[in-house]
Amino acid sequence: MATFKIDGREIPFEQGDTIIKAAHRAGIDIPHYCWHPGLSVAANCRMCLVEVAPPPGRPAMQLDILRWDAQKKDYVPARKPKLVPACQQACAPGMEVLSEGSDHVEEARGAVQELLLLNHPVDCPICDQAGECRLQDYWLEHQGTGKRMQQEVVHKPKAVDFGPTIVYDAERCIVCTRCVRFTAEIAQDAVLSVRERGNLNEIVVSPGRELDNDYTLMTEHVCPVGALTSKDFRFKARVWFLRSARTICQGCATGCNAYLDYDPRSNVPHRHRPRDNEEVNKYWMCDEGMLSYKRAVERRLGTALVGGEDASLEEALAAAKDQLAGLKDDPAKVAVVLSAQHSNEDNYALLTLAKTFIGAKDLYVSGRPLGRGDKILMSEDKNPNTLGVMQLAGAPAPKPIAALFDAIKAGKYAFVIALGSEIEVDAKDADSALSKLKGVVTIAAHDGPLARAAHVALPSTAWAEQDGTYVNRQGFAQKSERALKARGDARPGWELVAKLGKELGYAMTYKTLADVRRAMTPEPPSAGRDADRAAKPEVSA
Ligand code: SF4
Ligand code: SF4
Ligand code: FES
Repeated sequence: MATFKIDGREIPFEQGDTIIKAAHRAGIDIPHYCWHPGLSVAANCRMCLVEVAPPPGRPAMQLDILRWDAQKKDYVPARKPKLVPACQQACAPGMEVLSEGSDHVEEARGAVQELLLLNHPVDCPICDQAGECRLQDYWLEHQGTGKRMQQEVVHKPKAVDFGPTIVYDAERCIVCTRCVRFTAEIAQDAVLSVRERGNLNEIVVSPGRELDNDYTLMTEHVCPVGALTSKDFRFKARVWFLRSARTICQGCATGCNAYLDYDPRSNVPHRHRPRDNEEVNKYWMCDEGMLSYKRAVERRLGTALVGGEDASLEEALAAAKDQLAGLKDDPAKVAVVLSAQHSNEDNYALLTLAKTFIGAKDLYVSGRPLGRGDKILMSEDKNPNTLGVMQLAGAPAPKPIAALFDAIKAGKYAFVIALGSEIEVDAKDADSALSKLKGVVTIAAHDGPLARAAHVALPSTAWAEQDGTYVNRQGFAQKSERALKARGDARPGWELVAKLGKELGYAMTYKTLADVRRAMTPEPPSAGRDADRAAKPEVSA
């Protein structure tokens, strides 16, 4: 692969790479605002200026300038190298780039910073971007001087309602146009544009429109400063108090890689944001996925239920044993429901109980109903692990839940052991079918039709409260990390399955997640790749 040098370090590049793109891939951060690896190049902020040495034997391109001479107390003619934007300049073999190692570059970065901050309000203490704002970071790294401008700043509209999810502050905006390019190029809804010129310019929504599509929250995410804020997150938390877990979005079968930011002091999740993975979601998530973090704590089953009443875990397990009495005599009377909402580990534990111990033959799968998909990211399948369940179960494939209710009505089963609570058919069908049975035991994180219709419901942890593996629609087995502490009496699904198995008298020995994962070898079927396993260091866009 061809290479060039940045500050003496050899960097490989691909045909068509710009300096900043190759540097980004190599884990080198060239300061930037307007450049984003997933968007077209605008080259309007000039923060990424670098010095490029001329080819051997050629003179450097110089600019005539006036430089302040402190002794003469006047400007004097001088020359300096013409700097180039690293986000626009293509790499060439043998090229030598100075970024950190050039005084001219450092001076330019300080000057760009000073220009960008001339009219910027000093409202960091109340700005949601504080703590993760490039203006703050680069001021510290490349400027560090006070403001010299004495005049009143230019005032612009504040707290402009862009639509159902986003608020805009024109005074904080540096008009990098990332939001404009994102809506046009990725969301395919060119609803934002720039109005006016110079220090009067601002971002506006097209007349008669709102910023209202499936990807509005990404505009806030790509905004490098605090100009766009999300109505969901603004004023809720200071980012330095938050911790991040590497999660897999549970919103659909795409399995976007994400960070779940949560406050460890209160055990509350605050936002879900994209984690770069070129092969799955690139740099993006949809609004539904970004807001889906709420489901980790909403409608939770906090305690076990026996006959709809709260019970301790021990009481519920004993009740489950009673309800399932007679199951060993006739395994053909048992239907087992796997869950496309649960991890491979939870499903594998249930499969082991079903096939190895009980000897059950009939498998079904529950999950959320189909929804709206698109050609950008969103899948119609609103479950994160449909493929994982199908791969684990093998042939014959588990049947849809509607078939279970038909079979129950036909008198085929006396017992159901189910994972998950969501079903894709009318909840009334679940009630009327399951009420005919001798024993229904459900392991679920959330309240829902299968938990409500169960004789015994065992409270499992939600995805954000446990480590788990999910196989997305492409067949990538992706690991999601635990963020939150378990709520109430909730335990991981695989652990509840093991406890239930033991209660029924089977030698289920899983004590840790590692035990389950070891038993699952060979590893989950598709060796997917997620960004965190890639060799490259992470540099935020
Ligand atoms: S609102 Fe943010 S992303 Fe949009 S142009 Fe302004 S600074 Fe850039
Ligand atoms: S496309 Fe699917 S997986 Fe990706 S963020 Fe949206 S809901 Fe989540
Ligand atoms: S990042 Fe290159 S000009 Fe903005």
